[in-house]
Amino acid sequence: FAARQATSSVFGAVQRRAFSASAANATKVAVLGAAGGIGQPLSLLLKLNPRVSELALYDIKGAPGVAADISHINTKSVVKGYEASAEGIKECLSGAEIVLIPAGVPRKPGMTRDDLFNTNASIVRDLAKAAAESSPDANILIISNPVNSTVPITAEVFKKAGVYNPKRLFGVTTLDVVRASRFISQLKSTDPANENITVIGGHSGATIVPLLSQSGYTLEGAERDEYVKRVQFGGDEVVQAKGGAGSATLSMAMAGARFAESLLKAAQGQKGVIEPTFVDSPLYKDQGVTYFASNVELGPNGVEKIHPVGKLTEHEQSLLEVCLKDLKGNIEKGEKFAKDNL
Ligand code: NAD
Ligand code: LMR
Repeated sequence: FAARQATSSVFGAVQRRAFSASAANATKVAVLGAAGGIGQPLSLLLKLNPRVSELALYDIKGAPGVAADISHINTKSVVKGYEASAEGIKECLSGAEIVLIPAGVPRKPGMTRDDLFNTNASIVRDLAKAAAESSPDANILIISNPVNSTVPITAEVFKKAGVYNPKRLFGVTTLDVVRASRFISQLKSTDPANENITVIGGHSGATIVPLLSQSGYTLEGAERDEYVKRVQFGGDEVVQAKGGAGSATLSMAMAGARFAESLLKAAQGQKGVIEPTFVDSPLYKDQGVTYFASNVELGPNGVEKIHPVGKLTEHEQSLLEVCLKDLKGNIEKGEKFAKDNL
């Protein structure tokens, strides 16, 4: 249901032409990595969102060109692209309410998301430093992989700068929900727009745990195992199919735009906006897992309420146990990087 609402409000806006449903508040949204495979379609979708009044695009190359192109779209928001420089990123971030970060390298076949760590950890660290300085109160949405580690890195950067607010930092795991919902609709011949499967844990392989039982579905045996594997390794399906040309970009842009839209709706007063997202979470802290994705109610202050995972089947419980073990290692790796490199 949430998926249908988010998608229809973005695409409905295109069809309405008048765009009179303008945002109640002026909202600046920044995209860092805006000229990339995700960044471009994500920026396009944000330009179509009437809740966005200003779109600020930054990349190490090409952001002004993307901005010039998108700025011709006949929606009200103002679009500006920034050159790669200390001044450019500062201006881009200043006054932003939402900062989406899809900057960094994507996978090639044969790689895990963790193989991206060496390159992307420092990219995210540097962008997080800029955000901590120029937009310390913004909602920070981390897309760059490995999300299970880049979110803790961002938190450490904000802590070091003395501006960490756990309610404003989100690892974007929406694509897992989108996939889990689409894949069950294919098995059950339902309308995917009406599916909203909760996915908990993190964003890589075994840390991705879909909770079918909470949507009233029961799959058994090979069918269940194949479904879970497809959700956990949906990213690999795209990486293989692109054959070295990167990973999911278009579906990720949709997922990122949906999450941003949910945050904007919540910030503008809508109640009951719930999305699974990877946040600083109390749920499994006693097991040393300090960040965890579960259903989170969003509000004007970012995280409003972190929902517990709820009732699980025995099989889902066993998936969760594997998830927690892997997740702990991913989080600790990010924290160690921050300790050694900040
Ligand atoms: P891409 O290579 O097409 O684009 C990345 C962009 O980041 C490029 O334009 C590049 O110039 C820019 N960039 C690199 N360093 C930068 C810096 N320091 N500052 C600003 N911009 C910088 O890659 P992509 O396909 O868009 O994927 C980007 C990231 O998103 C990857 O790490 C990928 O694994 C991840 N991803 C995450 C999810 C998710 O569900 N969270 C889904 C898909 C992809
Ligand atoms: C995805 O889930 O598609 C992304 O995390 C990209 C990837 O590397 O699989």
